[in-house]
Amino acid sequence: MILAIETSCDDTCAAVVDGGEILSNVISSQDAAHAEFGGIVPEVASRHHLELAAPVVQAALGEAGVTLDDVEAVAVTAGPGLIGALLVGLSTAKAIAAARRLPLIPVDHLQGHVAANYLAPEPLEPPFLCLVASGGHTLLAGVHDHGGHEVLGQTLDDAAGEAFDKVARLLGLGFPGGPALQRLAEEGDPTAFELPVAMARDPGLDFSFSGLKTALAYLCRDLGPEGVAERRADLAAGFQAAAVGQLTSKLKRALQRGDWKAVALGGGVAANGPLREAVAALCEERGLRLKLVPLKLCTDNAAMIASAARFAPSLAYPEYLAYDAFSSSPPPVPA
Ligand code: KG4
Ligand code: ZN
Repeated sequence: MILAIETSCDDTCAAVVDGGEILSNVISSQDAAHAEFGGIVPEVASRHHLELAAPVVQAALGEAGVTLDDVEAVAVTAGPGLIGALLVGLSTAKAIAAARRLPLIPVDHLQGHVAANYLAPEPLEPPFLCLVASGGHTLLAGVHDHGGHEVLGQTLDDAAGEAFDKVARLLGLGFPGGPALQRLAEEGDPTAFELPVAMARDPGLDFSFSGLKTALAYLCRDLGPEGVAERRADLAAGFQAAAVGQLTSKLKRALQRGDWKAVALGGGVAANGPLREAVAALCEERGLRLKLVPLKLCTDNAAMIASAARFAPSLAYPEYLAYDAFSSSPPPVPA
C-alpha cells in the first residue's frame, strides 16, 4: 500500500493506492487563488501547499479508511515542476516516511502521467504510445515497459495547455482557460482565420506552440478590442483546431514510425473534446486500442504518482533525507 503526494504545480494532491487499485485520490485545487493573476504564481502555490499538505494527506488516509500503520511506502513527485512547490511535497513525504522508517519512492511527474494508465480497472499494458499534454509539458512518450518511457518528441517552447491558457486570457476568459476556450470554440468557425499549424513540415516529432500563440496575439491586436469581442468564438475555434491539428499530426507521424498497437492520452489537455475525438478517429482508422483514463486521472493527481511508484526503485531510511527536488526531470534512482 502506497501513500503518494503530488505538489509539482498548483494542485495539492494525496492518494492511497493498493496494488493498482485507488483507495483514495484527493485533489485540492488552487485555481481560485491563482485566477486573479491570470496564471500560476509559484510562490503563492508553495504557500498554499504548505497549508494544505497535511490536511490533504489526512483526507486521503481517511477516505481510504486506512492509517499510517497500513502504509508500506511513501511516494512523492520529485520533479519536474515548480521547485518551491515540489519541496513542500518532498519535505512532507520525507517527514511521514522518516517518522515511520518507511521507504521513500521519488517519482518523475511525467512518468506519473504515463502510469495513470496502469491503474485499475482495465490497466493498459505496455507497449503503447502516450501523448501527454498539460499546462506544463507536451511530449510523445514511447512506453516499452512499466518502469519508464522514451521521449520521442516534446515541445520546444510553450506547453499545449499553456498555449490554451494564454490564448484564453487574450480572449478574456478565466483561468485555467482550456475548458472555457473549448466551450467558446463550439460556437465558432475554425476556418474563419488562417492560422499556422506549427511544425507541419518539420520531419521530427517535436512540438511548438509559441508561434500559434503569437499569431493569435497579432490577430487580436489587429482586430482591436471590439473586433475581438465580436469574433471571439471564431478565434477560439481557429486556435483550438490548429493546436489539436498539431498534436494529432505528430501522433500520426509517431505511429508511422513504430509498430504501436495502443495509444494513451494524458495531461489536462487530454480533457479536450475535439482532441479526444480526433485521436479516437485516428485509432479506429488504424485498428489501434485507445486508452482514455478518466479526466480526474488525466489532470495532476497523486494516484498516478503512486501508480508510477509501484514500478520504481525506492530509497531506504535514512538515505532519502538528503534527496533533493528537481525543477527538471529527476535523475534515475539507482535500482
Ligand atoms: O495536467 P494538468 O492538470 O496540470 C499540469 O500538469 O499542467 O493540466 C492543466 C492544463 C491547463 O493548461 C488547462 O487549460 C488544460 O490542461 N485543459 C484543457 C482542457 N481542460 C484542461 N485544455 C484544452 N481543453 C480542455 N478541455
Ligand atoms: Zn502534469
